[in-house]
Amino acid sequence: MIPKLDWRRFSEATDREGFISDLSAAISGPGLFRLTHHGIDPELICDAFTGSTSVFDLTEAEKRTLAMQAGPHNRGWARLGVERLADGSSVLERREAFNIGLELPRTDPRVATRQRFRTQTPWPAIPGFRDTMLSYYDAVLELGLALHRAFAAELSLAPDCFDPLFVDPLATLRLITYPPGTGSDAETGAGTHTDFGSISLLLTDDQPGLQAKLRNGDWIDVKPDSDSFIILLGDALECWTGGKYAATPHRVQSPKHRRQAINFYLDPAPEASLSPFPGFGKAVQRPQKYVDYLAEGLSAAHQVMQR
Ligand SMILES: [Fe+2]
Repeated sequence: MIPKLDWRRFSEATDREGFISDLSAAISGPGLFRLTHHGIDPELICDAFTGSTSVFDLTEAEKRTLAMQAGPHNRGWARLGVERLADGSSVLERREAFNIGLELPRTDPRVATRQRFRTQTPWPAIPGFRDTMLSYYDAVLELGLALHRAFAAELSLAPDCFDPLFVDPLATLRLITYPPGTGSDAETGAGTHTDFGSISLLLTDDQPGLQAKLRNGDWIDVKPDSDSFIILLGDALECWTGGKYAATPHRVQSPKHRRQAINFYLDPAPEASLSPFPGFGKAVQRPQKYVDYLAEGLSAAHQVMQR
């Protein structure tokens, strides 16, 4: 059973203590939760799904012009079968994706000097696509950051303790389409993994496929629910909290029918340290900047692409 948390209780301050108490139970219990009444405009969500379908329905030749390069920026189209998230597995992960990052102006020095992960998204020539996706990106980023205020309260930390970690973050909006499976055991939608960043805010269409591993070791189906975000905990949040907010292992089975997901990975700023907050465990031996952690993880996932 995945707990459902009504965001209005915290965001509108109608029952903050109750929300924090339920959040505590979700974090220490299953390790994931649904966020309902999140305030994101349903029309914007609908437009984002329509845009997602449009980009994957482009011709192969059109998509190739938007292709993600194997490093250094993590933007654009990843064709079927070029990533592997599961460690040490040879099972083919069947999905296509399109990644959108923080849109900095071309004149921004970080873009001009080609800093890692600092570039503009290769936008397809689909009317309204860019505006819709950037509106969705901004809305979910705001929601995700606000949710960290609730985490801070749950952790008995200052409300703004996460703020410095998310200045111009490496957050990624990832549109994904999973083609129907062939029924072979040698394929999957996504192998078992945890996400790299702080939290992931997931929306899917009505096709099942996502599974999550609970703290007790049981795997459960995460059923589609268009009215709520699935919130998964990521590696960075686990590091900052010394393991209290343990990252949520998950996987995606190849669906019977084409499956669409719109995932928002709330990754922190490049310079964010992965050291725990004071009082939350020992500092890591070699303090690692998030940008290096992400680069390492993506490089491993994209080894398939580089072959
Ligand atoms: Fe994931």
